[in-house]
Amino acid sequence: MKINAKELVEAACRARLSAYAPYSSFSVGAAILCSDGKIYEGCNIENSSFTPTCCAERVAIFKAISEGRRDFIAVAVVGGKIGAEEWEFCYPCGVCRQVLAEFCDKDTPVFIGNSRGEIDETTLGELIPYTFKLKKN
Ligand code: THU
Repeated sequence: MKINAKELVEAACRARLSAYAPYSSFSVGAAILCSDGKIYEGCNIENSSFTPTCCAERVAIFKAISEGRRDFIAVAVVGGKIGAEEWEFCYPCGVCRQVLAEFCDKDTPVFIGNSRGEIDETTLGELIPYTFKLKKN
């Protein structure tokens, strides 16, 4: 399965439009690609109590896991201030890196897009070289 970074970043941009972020005014979209080409999308969902807020990356991967998927081959993330024309690369937070590392290999590509259509390609292992693990795998 050929990974199309642009297409995956576009899916993350689409998901970002659904963000519920009235408290931070910062919307994030994420897309996670499965080995058969299926894409799961997620957006950040905030809460007036703040701590229940869930990041876009975790929404996307939890949707996929809850539908029985674990065969992830790439991730894309975009984010920025709501309404801003320019937005820079937005990297996953530490909590989301840990969650992604539970289900993705270290060499899984992570694509980060900005408003100029540029894509920064990194890997999950670069983003989180040491993860907390209870089980050996
Ligand atoms: N956020 C994400 O969705 N993903 C991240 O990796 C970092 C932060 C969201 C959470 C919150 O709704 C907003 O961005 C500001 O922190």
